[in-house]
Amino acid sequence: MLRMQTLLSMTIMLLWLVVQHLSSLTLVCATKCILQNDFEPGLMAPGDFLIGGIFPLHYNQEMPDLSCTYKPGPVKCNGFDPRAFRWAITMKLAIEEINKRADLLPNHTLGYKIFDSCAYPLTGQRSAVAVLNGLSETESPMCSGAGPLLAIIGESGSAQSIVVSRILQPFRIPMISYFSSCACMSDRREFPTFFRVIPSDDYQVKAIAKLLMHFKWKWVGVVRGDHEYGRFALQGLLRELEGTGICVAYQEMIPLLYDRQKALEIIRVMSHSTARVVVVFSAEGELTPFLSDYMEQNVTGIQWIASEAWITSSVFAGSEYYPFLGGTIGFGIRKGQIPGLRNYLTTVNPEMYPSNPLVHELWAALYGCSSSSSSLNGHLPPCTGQESLREQHSAYMNTSSPRISYNVYKGVYAIAHSMHNLIHCTPGKGPFNNFTCADIDNVYPWQLQHYLQEVSFTISGETVNFDMKGDSIPSYDLINWQRGSAGNIEFINVGMFDGAQESGQELVIQEEQVLVSVCSNSCAPGFRKAVRHGQPLCCFDCVPCDSGKISNQTDSIDCMACSEDYWSNDDGTICIPKVVEFLSHDAMGLTLTVIAVMGACLTLVVFAVFLYYRNTPIVRINNSELSFFILLSLTLCFLCALVFIGEPTSWSCMLRHTAFSITFSLCISCILGKTLVVLAAFTATRPGNNIMKWLGPTQQRLIIFSCTLVQVLICTAWLVASPPFPYRNTKYQQSKIILDCSVGSDLAFWCVLGYIGLLACVCFFLAFLARKLPGNFNEAKYITFSMLIFCAVWLAFVPAYVSSPGKFTTAVEIFAILASSFGLLLCLFTPKVYIILLKPEKNTKQHLMGKDK
Ligand code: TRP
Repeated sequence: MLRMQTLLSMTIMLLWLVVQHLSSLTLVCATKCILQNDFEPGLMAPGDFLIGGIFPLHYNQEMPDLSCTYKPGPVKCNGFDPRAFRWAITMKLAIEEINKRADLLPNHTLGYKIFDSCAYPLTGQRSAVAVLNGLSETESPMCSGAGPLLAIIGESGSAQSIVVSRILQPFRIPMISYFSSCACMSDRREFPTFFRVIPSDDYQVKAIAKLLMHFKWKWVGVVRGDHEYGRFALQGLLRELEGTGICVAYQEMIPLLYDRQKALEIIRVMSHSTARVVVVFSAEGELTPFLSDYMEQNVTGIQWIASEAWITSSVFAGSEYYPFLGGTIGFGIRKGQIPGLRNYLTTVNPEMYPSNPLVHELWAALYGCSSSSSSLNGHLPPCTGQESLREQHSAYMNTSSPRISYNVYKGVYAIAHSMHNLIHCTPGKGPFNNFTCADIDNVYPWQLQHYLQEVSFTISGETVNFDMKGDSIPSYDLINWQRGSAGNIEFINVGMFDGAQESGQELVIQEEQVLVSVCSNSCAPGFRKAVRHGQPLCCFDCVPCDSGKISNQTDSIDCMACSEDYWSNDDGTICIPKVVEFLSHDAMGLTLTVIAVMGACLTLVVFAVFLYYRNTPIVRINNSELSFFILLSLTLCFLCALVFIGEPTSWSCMLRHTAFSITFSLCISCILGKTLVVLAAFTATRPGNNIMKWLGPTQQRLIIFSCTLVQVLICTAWLVASPPFPYRNTKYQQSKIILDCSVGSDLAFWCVLGYIGLLACVCFFLAFLARKLPGNFNEAKYITFSMLIFCAVWLAFVPAYVSSPGKFTTAVEIFAILASSFGLLLCLFTPKVYIILLKPEKNTKQHLMGKDK
């Protein structure tokens, strides 16, 4: 690439040499050069060293006639721009000031030649070529020695500057731009002779990105002009916005040749978009028609962010703009002081410059009158000569805070200081080959460039110098458009951006104002962002975090899972310790406790009744000892339900199942014993059968004892081998920790239950056999019935127990215990208690044996 460039410039140089050679030949043979086309400078003055100036004195240029049937006339430009004229006058002022000074360039004068570029790249190019010709074409010394022109102050727009700089490159003529900020011009390989007294847009887009972040404007539109400035600024802004969470809703371009249809289209996009903030990289020229169309459409509620090119444009300061543009914010070039500018500007009038068409145009633009007889503005009324330049003509007279004018001023001084240094070079210590200095009578522009690169001076308290890329110190004023007393717009300084500060401290804002411009509102804690497919990152939905996950910040991208013992709260904003669940003394626990205690009491009451009536037949006939045993073990059964209530500890876990199983096997063994006795008692009545002998009280006790012993052994083995232990179940229900007793060994647990079941079945079977035996009070019936209930309850319990852990299972288990205990108590004892207490007349041996009929 680099090689290509050097090749290209070498070819141009060669071409130039050939042209020069030819022209010197022409000089020899003919007496003067013949100009192909003329282009008159707007302002000029002779001097020892000549500086060119190129300013967009008009907003635009008429389309040239391309028919080529006659010699093209001079360029026709429209829309005189008093502001740019002020810049040009400032250049003139600076040069005159320098020429008067004794300390800067003494004994030498600077000359100037100022051209109009009509804000149009090709005309800028023509100005550049014209300015190269030197002061006056006819006496052009351009065929001998160094070129007549040392440097150029120009151009305004980057698009023009690019063209001008390219033409100047082969001649190595430095140019200093006062308004071209395009970052593209910082490339020394492409623009080796380009300097500027305005910061590169690289800093401006950084500043704008910081501003957007500051106000949390996350959803913005961008409108730009169709030129390098707009293109590179947009590119830079997009680069700066990457990763900041700010998204661009739309990017629109105002066409170079203003087209109303396209403009209306852009305005439609702006008004329909949800983005309320629009960044505009454009300049007065194209914005003026665009904004008038915008106002015509009556769109409001947009926050404009202006680029430096129009943030201080007095064109838009009128009160008619306020409702639409009020509040506009943007970064402006820093202002400075130009002593005497005000007075100097007022000296410019048609009487002082009767032959200068630009001054006549200025008058026409400011007062709407025509001051010259041959004027182009023939239709305007003639000027009275009484007009005076007042403040109200702000575009020209706005000298309160010169920004671009100040840049022009600085530029001219930079050249003057460099020339001064060049002239005051000590012979033998010079910067050039063999420590030579430049020849003052024959200064080459590249020699001046060397000094420009090195120059450093202060002007109204500010140091001016150029970095290696020819750029100057980045620093901006933050400007806000506020309402002035007359309803007009005032440019108020509300902060600044200093690119030299370290990152994070560059932007200082004094005044705060907030407008919301977002595609989606930010997500509250407890939610996370979900990207909408096919839409920019700023547009998203907020979805609540899944349970167990939280987000504690606004705009979280993801929800974090809580650690094992924690769970999300209902809002999903914090992790809270999981609820530990077990059957405690809450309503359910209490109810069960009360029922269990009541059951135990009831059993004891029955026990007392039996004890009191222990001598009555009904108690005695049915083996009173066994009945007491049953009642006692039932009491224990009721009580062991209590062990299941409360927080499981290792002791209560071990106690729960063992106590329950042993009391139950004791109880059922007793009932079994009783069944056997009943069975034996009735069969014993048959002759030759003395089973009763074998079933005396000792044997009965033995049976009960051994049946219970088996269960005790199983339980001991269980406790020794792998006892039940409390255990935190976090798997079953994620939001809770279930505090439960693990049985330790499933086999043991089912053995224990199975053994009780076996006893119950045997009991049921024997009772079933005995149910048909004679007698009015046949206990076997009741035993059968009670066993049926018992088995039913426990069969129902198994599926409930297996299916779900948690406090309800414990409750179900307790319920089964209580239900089966009540079943036994009621079935076995109610009929007897009924007879004892309410039908004492039936409490006789005869009646019971069924012999009283
Ligand atoms: N900073 C802008 C640039 O570099 C300023 C500017 C001046 C401008 N004249 C313009 C921008 C015309 C667009 C059109 O170009």
